[in-house]
Amino acid sequence: MCELYSKQDTLALREKHVGPSCKVFFAADPIKIVRAQRQYMFDEKGQRYLDCINNVAHVGHCHPEVVKAAFKQMELLNTNSRFLHDNMVEYAKRLSATLPEKLSVCYFTNSGSEANDLALRLAREFQGHEDVITLDHAYHGHLSSLIEISPYKFQKGKDVKKEFVHVAPTPDTYRGKYRDDHPDPASAYAEEVKKIIEAAHHSGRKIAAFIAESMQSCGGQIIPPAGYFQKVAEYVHNAGGVFIADEVQVGFGRVGKYFWSFQMHGEDFVPDIVTMGKPMGNGHPIACVVTTREIAEAFNNSGMEYFNTYGGNPVSCAVGLAVLDVIQNEDLQGNATRVGNYLIELLNRQKAKHILIGDIRGIGLFIGIDLVKDQEKRTPATAEAQHIIYKMKERRVLLSADGPHRNVLKVKPPLCFTEEDAKFMVDQLDGILTVLEEATGTESESSIFANTPCRTKMPEKEHGDPLSNNTTDHTENPSRKRNGMCPSKHAPLSKKLSRHDR
Ligand SMILES: Cc1ncc(COP(=O)(O)O)c(C=O)c1O
Repeated sequence: MCELYSKQDTLALREKHVGPSCKVFFAADPIKIVRAQRQYMFDEKGQRYLDCINNVAHVGHCHPEVVKAAFKQMELLNTNSRFLHDNMVEYAKRLSATLPEKLSVCYFTNSGSEANDLALRLAREFQGHEDVITLDHAYHGHLSSLIEISPYKFQKGKDVKKEFVHVAPTPDTYRGKYRDDHPDPASAYAEEVKKIIEAAHHSGRKIAAFIAESMQSCGGQIIPPAGYFQKVAEYVHNAGGVFIADEVQVGFGRVGKYFWSFQMHGEDFVPDIVTMGKPMGNGHPIACVVTTREIAEAFNNSGMEYFNTYGGNPVSCAVGLAVLDVIQNEDLQGNATRVGNYLIELLNRQKAKHILIGDIRGIGLFIGIDLVKDQEKRTPATAEAQHIIYKMKERRVLLSADGPHRNVLKVKPPLCFTEEDAKFMVDQLDGILTVLEEATGTESESSIFANTPCRTKMPEKEHGDPLSNNTTDHTENPSRKRNGMCPSKHAPLSKKLSRHDR
């Protein structure tokens, strides 16, 4: 039995007993999901939805190997980490093997927020500094300590920025301060961090950490330009701080070629602390902080024990081990590369066809579709993005829109996503964009684009062999490498969408 209540009653009970700030997807018409498998979710009527947003169900919803591992260990033992148990050490060993050598010491937690909170404690204990540099629009978790360093949150609420928090511009080469026409956006954005450090020092403050997602997710699927992290790490280290890479969203092979997203920035960049969560347990609450022996020893020298009742328990670690096995056994990194490249190729064709698409950026199965009202000004198409995700839902495709302007369609499906899924998703998007552009009276067809240089590199031939990795090389400064400038002659979408359409 999948349901206790009718959908209406579930909604009514939720409104009565669950905090109103806990929001649902598609608030105007929420979906009740009763079961899921692989990349598909099913509602109470048995309707199947293609899940393009669930990066937590990393190896596929309810993967049988993961379910089996949890069940087997639950039958045997679950307890805290004060007892010796092989699952925790085996997991720590396997996890360390995926990371650069110096990142070898693990602390287990139950959520990405707990991992980031602990990372801040480690960083602050290391040199006794307090201040944190964070990126604009960043989200690092829901604990008080993380709301403080998450402009995505504190800029929307009544909170004010704390004096120990410094916000650096997001290294966004599409809509940010330094764009793809800048000769060296990586250095320019890193210089901003340097200036922040100098200003902090000037007022007697000391930097404990720079924290950033290896690719910004809530911030709008932003890929920092190549070389940015190296330069920032240098400035932060010189100031006695540490570099925290938040891989809660983007770790565990989502980018395909690399297991960790920070690795696509090159071997000469290694963070001092890496935090992870979401995909780690495929939905089971397990998360982790990995750091260097030096930082771990400094934390230990503070004299305070770290204890976390559920962190690293035998069931969680059994689940984590099963996830690692599935990623490897099913070559999900290879799949992320193949399907991701194919999807990007399909989306780039849509970009040439639809003036609402301003930018396609991504790597592996982490892709953003930046919608604009005006190609030249890059004005975010917020209402249109909201309209599109509802229309996609009607066509049984689950997508979300995020970023500071909520105009970036986020694609980050389970890694078992297939080429057929990619094609289906893009076909639905194409249909919706066509109708929308017709309804708003905007010319969209390729005749307009015939002589217009395009930001996005177009594939030269039809998608042929999905296994051949011959599309754009997204590993090296993807956002810059794939883009040229595309000043467009298009007029902005002028007609407003009706409320009903949204
Ligand atoms: C980048 C990032 N870090 C940390 C977190 C917090 O993780 P959790 O929700 O597991 O506490 C999130 C959650 O969305 C996140 O996106």
